[in-house]
Amino acid sequence: MARHLITSAIPYINGIKHLGNLVGSQLPADLFARYQRGRGNEVLFLCATDEHGTPAELAAAKAGKPIADYCTEMHDVQAKIADGFRLSFDHFGRSSSPENHALTQHFAGVLADRGLIREVVENQMYSKADGRFLPDRYIEGTCPNCGFESARGDQCDNCTKQLDPVDLLNPHSTISGSTDLEMRETKHLYLCQSQMKDELEAWIDSKADWPILTTSIAKKWLNDGDGLKDRGITRDLDWGIPVKKGTEDWPGMEGKVFYVWFDAPIEYIACAKEWVDTGKGTDWQRWWRTDKGADDVRYTQFMGKDNVPFHTLSFPATILGSGEPWKLVDYIKSFNYLNYDGGQFSTSRGRGVFMDQALEILPADYWRWWLLSHAPESSDAEFTWENFQQSVNKDLADVLGNFVSRVTKFCRSKFGEKVPSGGTFGETEQALIEELTTRTRAYEAHMEAMEVRKSAQELRAIWVAGNEYLQNAAPWSTFKEDPDKAAAQIRLALSLIRFYAVLSAPFIPDAKDALLTAMQTDNDAWPDDVPAALAALPPGHAFTVPDVTFRKITDAEREDWQERFAGTRD
Ligand code: 2FM
Ligand code: ZN
Repeated sequence: MARHLITSAIPYINGIKHLGNLVGSQLPADLFARYQRGRGNEVLFLCATDEHGTPAELAAAKAGKPIADYCTEMHDVQAKIADGFRLSFDHFGRSSSPENHALTQHFAGVLADRGLIREVVENQMYSKADGRFLPDRYIEGTCPNCGFESARGDQCDNCTKQLDPVDLLNPHSTISGSTDLEMRETKHLYLCQSQMKDELEAWIDSKADWPILTTSIAKKWLNDGDGLKDRGITRDLDWGIPVKKGTEDWPGMEGKVFYVWFDAPIEYIACAKEWVDTGKGTDWQRWWRTDKGADDVRYTQFMGKDNVPFHTLSFPATILGSGEPWKLVDYIKSFNYLNYDGGQFSTSRGRGVFMDQALEILPADYWRWWLLSHAPESSDAEFTWENFQQSVNKDLADVLGNFVSRVTKFCRSKFGEKVPSGGTFGETEQALIEELTTRTRAYEAHMEAMEVRKSAQELRAIWVAGNEYLQNAAPWSTFKEDPDKAAAQIRLALSLIRFYAVLSAPFIPDAKDALLTAMQTDNDAWPDDVPAALAALPPGHAFTVPDVTFRKITDAEREDWQERFAGTRD
């Protein structure tokens, strides 16, 4: 039995994610986790909320809540929605957990002991009225480029120019409005990534099988300008993990916290510890320490392309730099962006469909199928309502749903609600079984390779093969002359329903449950042997006709939703 450690990029705590975020990390990670479990392998699938940093502080302030309360509430909201989408995390952790505090401080300590952290004195904007240094986003002023009056310290939203807070005219604090700002010295810790460039490059070069999207981004950062830069890993904020050297204070760093991107990936490890500490698992080190059994683990990470530099360079620099036997990632599956109806999804403008809204209008399987079968793998992809309606109505309702409904209803009317006996399989049946064997092996190969779109295409072809068989065999005609032959045809078709349920489960897990319930079986064994799997329901086995498995989306609904999600969410 193989052992798979699987992590999805951990979503920021501030607000509910849109479908583009979902398809870029959590959903394909879930597909892979469900597939590996279906194959009988041991899986640890982890995700968490990313709770530190300025955006979390800002969102809590906007909501008028203490930040710790805000994070607790939003974590629960995100956990419920993840459940709604059937994301099968073994644990959905929090980067603010005590486990992550301790582990992050531990890593900083060992990196410092190994000479990989240096102290740097910088100048930063300080607000006397607020009694704090202001991160770029907390400073606004007039854009020197276009004159826009509410340009942020890092960027002008009007002309999109990248800015430095010192460029702004009439800068003021967005917390208090105070203009009493001055540049002050502040000390920060830098991770000496540049010292590790050769080691990181050799490691990335050894990953010949990684997606080009992943390696090209890593290479670009490795060789950007004069090479890999050292990175600041601390911030002057209140909310975050206090800077410590292991369990000891760090002189001169009092009141500072680690940068969110330093502690977030460490949460992948801390999350496994949380999984044990919350009583769900035992022995997290077996997954994470190569000296404690993790050397035979295969570790796969899923993420959007914007997250690649941190996962190919910064986090590996932390792990390698520690000199401790932590498990390094084996494969990084990255995704392009999903656009929305001719533009971008926008969290700030509420443009597009957000995860909670999606579940209000249709069950998870509809979304999972569309998103995964259109995953932005080789290029950016686009969600349109027309395409969504078409895919759902055709693939799910016409092909899969209709097959199930025709087969079960016909059987009920002619043979009753049990698998009919009599007749034998002829050439057409053998041909179908052979085709399904070939296609199942191809499907497995695509799933192993995490080729999401190709897997969906193959699965659809498997559904279509059954439909075509049914159309050609036409048991409703056969029945008139040769009821035994019709019985054999229907027996095969009923077995196909179970077979489809099992193969489709990673994509549409609710349909799997509904179909297995209808077929009155809990046999969800993977069809390693396809002919045997297609004989799994013996003559006499009782079943029920399921309610509509997938319904169609009407034109009126499509138009209504198109209008509703054009961009008004507050
Ligand atoms: O882009 C994001 O949503 C980040 N919160 C991802 C962090 S992934 C990892 F580092 F933990
Ligand atoms: Zn501007």
